[in-house]
Amino acid sequence: MTLILQRLIIISVLPIQERKIKVKVLGVSGSPIKNSNTDRALKAVLDATGCETECVKLMDYTIEPCRACLGCVKTNTCVIKDDGIALTEKAKAADALVIAGFTPYSTIDSRTKAFIERLYPLRHTHGFMAGKPGGAVITFAAPEENDMLPPAGQMGINAVQFYMMEEGMNFVGAVKIQGNVPCVKCVYGDECKMSGIPMLYGPDATVDSVGIKSFEEQPVAVEAARELGHKIAEALGTANKAIDSHEK
Ligand SMILES: Cc1cc2nc3c(=O)[nH]c(=O)nc-3n(C[C@H](O)[C@H](O)[C@H](O)COP(=O)(O)O)c2cc1C
Repeated sequence: MTLILQRLIIISVLPIQERKIKVKVLGVSGSPIKNSNTDRALKAVLDATGCETECVKLMDYTIEPCRACLGCVKTNTCVIKDDGIALTEKAKAADALVIAGFTPYSTIDSRTKAFIERLYPLRHTHGFMAGKPGGAVITFAAPEENDMLPPAGQMGINAVQFYMMEEGMNFVGAVKIQGNVPCVKCVYGDECKMSGIPMLYGPDATVDSVGIKSFEEQPVAVEAARELGHKIAEALGTANKAIDSHEK
């Protein structure tokens, strides 16, 4: 019996829910914190796609930013011999990409930014990312309702969305998560004159009144993650399908 025939028989006897769709969604997290809100929200998006997925944590890799040397123009490969080359190949092989980051000083974190810049080799003369669905997952501490603060969440989304737009990708949406003010965990949050707690939450706010924020306790974010996963599946044409859509 040929391998293809064997696979077809196996697929047809599996219950619908257990069949895996042969389309790969890559998730990349720039959060350095282990199992962070950013990581967990990204995983929720990936799970909701119903597709085969891979989740990469940039903290586990060494990746320099782009040197703007244009050494990748003819080869579509970066001249910097670090993990950025393998990560770029993962993005090239993926059918969809979800980029997750947090927002130090109100913009996308530097690991995520370096990763985005290192995708530049995939642009020249081919546009390897063009047409692929993509999304953003952004964690930030500045409450959005306080319009005196920089719009950190939106700045993070913009960084991912504009990359995807400029590469001709199909940006399908974003998830915003209320993350932790570092000063809630640092021990000096209620006494340090530089504490971010009163700056973000008002003069009467304390470590206890602000507390620890968790993705799972934010129903709007949880729903947005599910929705983003579904939108990616829809864009890939895999929504409600339970058999292989193509072989890689
Ligand atoms: C150095 C540093 C600077 C930060 N500056 C901001 C900021 O300007 N605005 C903001 O919304 N959050 C800021 N944050 C908070 C992070 O966005 C927050 O810790 C984020 O929720 C972390 O997500 P994670 O738990 O998934 O790693 C800062 C965090 C760090 C470590």
